[in-house]
Amino acid sequence: MIAIGCDHAATDYKKKIESHLNGRGIAFEDFGAGESDCCDYPEYAEKVADAVKSGRCEKGILICGTGIGMCIAANKVRGIRCALCHDVFSAKACRLHNDANVLALGQRTMGIENVLEIVDAFLDTSFSEEERHVRRLGGIADIERRNS
Ligand code: RB5
Repeated sequence: MIAIGCDHAATDYKKKIESHLNGRGIAFEDFGAGESDCCDYPEYAEKVADAVKSGRCEKGILICGTGIGMCIAANKVRGIRCALCHDVFSAKACRLHNDANVLALGQRTMGIENVLEIVDAFLDTSFSEEERHVRRLGGIADIERRNS
């Protein structure tokens, strides 16, 4: 199950990503926002991040104008590793190296074809499990512990 959320700047891309996921037979849960809502992105970032943190959803996708606000907000939730990706290479690398569990995207900064390719790369790539990457994720978790 994929958690998906956006703010008012990205409802169009959220719909397009959902339709793409439907076409691939990938289940998702939509945490808003709806089309008529003018809203603040932290609320939706936290909903999606909580769904991933709790295990209710395996991964999350967040879209706002630039993806930046969503990425910053989602990364405040313990255990969330959110990556803002503008290219397929980064989308693969954030899974292989960083075990990113949330993907952030920007409707105002990215073309939809690129976005859908990035979504596929993010969903279809597994964490490498290599020792050096596991060690570095441990380092990130240590920072979280020192700051909670
Ligand atoms: C909303 O205007 C915009 O600030 C938001 O979508 C996002 O780009 C923030 O990072």
